[in-house]
Amino acid sequence: MKITVMGAGYVGLVTGACLAEMGNHVVCLDVDPRKIDMLKRGEVPIREPGLDAAIARNAAAGRLQFTTDVAAAVGHGTLQFIGVGTPPDEDGSADLQYVLAAAENIGRHMTDYKVVVDKSTVPVGTADKVRARIAQVLDERGLDLTYAVVSNPEFLKEGAAVDDFMRPDRIIIGCDDERASLLMRAVYAPFMRNKDKLVVMDVRSAELTKYAANAMLATRISFMNELAMLAERVGADIEWVRRGIGSDQRIGSHFLYAGTGYGGSCFPKDVKALIRTGQEQGLQLGVLQAVQQANERQKQVLVQRVLARFGEDLTGRTFAVWGLAFKPDTDDMREAPSRVLITELTRRGAAIQAYDPVAMPEARRVLAGTPRLQFVEHQSAALEGADALLIVTEWKEFRTPDFDQIKATLRQPLILDGRNLYEPALMRAFGIDYIGVGRAAAAL
Ligand code: UDX
Repeated sequence: MKITVMGAGYVGLVTGACLAEMGNHVVCLDVDPRKIDMLKRGEVPIREPGLDAAIARNAAAGRLQFTTDVAAAVGHGTLQFIGVGTPPDEDGSADLQYVLAAAENIGRHMTDYKVVVDKSTVPVGTADKVRARIAQVLDERGLDLTYAVVSNPEFLKEGAAVDDFMRPDRIIIGCDDERASLLMRAVYAPFMRNKDKLVVMDVRSAELTKYAANAMLATRISFMNELAMLAERVGADIEWVRRGIGSDQRIGSHFLYAGTGYGGSCFPKDVKALIRTGQEQGLQLGVLQAVQQANERQKQVLVQRVLARFGEDLTGRTFAVWGLAFKPDTDDMREAPSRVLITELTRRGAAIQAYDPVAMPEARRVLAGTPRLQFVEHQSAALEGADALLIVTEWKEFRTPDFDQIKATLRQPLILDGRNLYEPALMRAFGIDYIGVGRAAAAL
């Protein structure tokens, strides 16, 4: 099939490459000529396992092309996927200007039937706005062409996006047009050979489903973070509680890990946007407000631990920080808890020696100008002369470090672990003072 993908960002590139993989002829459009030039040279602007290879393979086969030519791109695909950014406005609602600009381009250049697919995370009612914008432009052109607008939200995790696209848990299609529905089914059939994972529904329900999924996951995390704080007070261990409740099939074991709070490009933004949608409808979404507040509080957890131990004035103190990215296997620093930690500690006079396997260039950019912040080339170098080791991201290479060396290198053997990587009893055996999140019972 002929497919156009608007936006060569995270969602657009993964969608384009994976659809090309199944034999579709995909054209990816972006307004940024530098990005398109890079892609044409075979350079991929984002880091995502398997993406470089998929792009190279399909570009070489002539099934995946990149362009800045709007008219040609719109002319190409019967299906027009919109995968542009929807950054949050100041008030927390999603900024739709790029989505609507894409809709306008489609209206301006289309000459035959199109299925316009909203892939970006957009608030309920956006498909109607996209439809209206296209209708308006067609009207100005004096044309009466048929088209459908479909909602097809993505559920891609950073670091596993290609895999998630190739082997989805489910595919949500919001559609009220029979022909569009048939085309969407045909496009996704190869991704679900063994089982029908397609859930076709009305457009608004599909739009809400995406927010509901992310908000539910964020709720689980905030719930566990709150219980972890309680576990510390009452002398319980959240790791046992997690295993205890996760074995209930109705609860399930995923996304129950207490930590330093959720970050990234989706959860914080989507929870905020959903609260905002509620407000617009005169509804106070109290559960989600609490989820957000709990998360803000949780991002301070390591800061609080440091202050409790070293006092408010951290002048002359040095802390080793392991992990900067909001989660492992990405260099994404958006809403990363490490940013809150580093900003708060340096503001109180501390020096930071930070290490992350891949996110240091990005961290250097977003934390530019932070005083007394030094990036080091190896995790052990971060420990030199530090008063404590603070762990923020659960990279695999932090899982089994040389504990004797940690103890010998730190000024005092103290680990404040925001990800519960180690067993408290083992740390005791090594003579390390160790504090995890919600693990009071294990620390006894
Ligand atoms: C998420 C959704 O999983 C994905 O379906 C959606 O399309 C985009 O948002 P992503 O942001 O890449 O994906 O990260 P994810 O792996 O879901 O983690 C989100 C955050 O929650 C991270 O900061 C992570 O550290 C935190 N988290 C996750 C916890 O604190 N505890 C957990 O148990 C799980």
